[in-house]
Amino acid sequence: MSIDIKSKDEIEKMRVAGRLAADVLDMIAPYVKAGISTDELDKICHDYMVNEQDTIPAPLNYHGFPKSICTSINNVVCHGIPSDKHLKKGDIVNIDITVIKDGYHGDTSKMFIIGKASVKAQRICRIAQECLYIGIQKVKPGIKLGEIGLAIGAHADKNNCSVVHDYCGHGIGLKFHTEPQVLHYNDGNVDSSPILEEGMTFTIEPMVNIGSFEVATSKIDGWTVTTKDRSLSAQWEHTILVTKDGYEILTLRAEEDI
Ligand code: MF3
Ligand code: CO
Ligand code: CO
Repeated sequence: MSIDIKSKDEIEKMRVAGRLAADVLDMIAPYVKAGISTDELDKICHDYMVNEQDTIPAPLNYHGFPKSICTSINNVVCHGIPSDKHLKKGDIVNIDITVIKDGYHGDTSKMFIIGKASVKAQRICRIAQECLYIGIQKVKPGIKLGEIGLAIGAHADKNNCSVVHDYCGHGIGLKFHTEPQVLHYNDGNVDSSPILEEGMTFTIEPMVNIGSFEVATSKIDGWTVTTKDRSLSAQWEHTILVTKDGYEILTLRAEEDI
């Protein structure tokens, strides 16, 4: 297995793509309120990407995905398809944005809480974000890739939450999804996992459930992933660059304090 090392030039392009993906999340934030449909959110993001940013929405037509963003509400783990469903007070929703600029991908997602959500809904959103940050803080040249998932899994465990096994983070660059697979749990192979090197770019995107880690994919649309036990799920994602002595978050937003 070989993990691509980006040149200076490619890193600059990844920075631009990452920034633009983060900008879409900032742009859409004021619209993510009770009453709006996820189709409307998709259209606003699509138009912004195509007309304002001159970026390509990577999900659109990706292996047949029908929309430009993913919107995953409550017990939906990931890959929710925007629809005429309206957000309502108490929902939690992940919006996942991937843009392509100059051939390079930037991929990021965050949770939005609609109105005032239950304590457990707020909690799963917070723990999932902590899992992302704990994983990111492990990143530096010389560590084993598996140490990221080890740390994330331990934090979820400690908080009696479970981490989804069936979906992982991924290398990213000219391709949307490439090697390596970035696990968010300890699969028992940390020692034999690859060593991180300066210039690698990948995502970390833990999906964390209140109940069991088991998920199922919709037989109707072929995309929507839900928790098997219908418990709430939350996810946060960043695109990360391995730097000389640590990491750079290519999709960092101004609101974040890490
Ligand atoms: N953005 C998702 C990820 O983080 C992938 C979405 S693929 C799609 O990897 F086809 F559902 F858009
Ligand atoms: Co991703
Ligand atoms: Co994503």
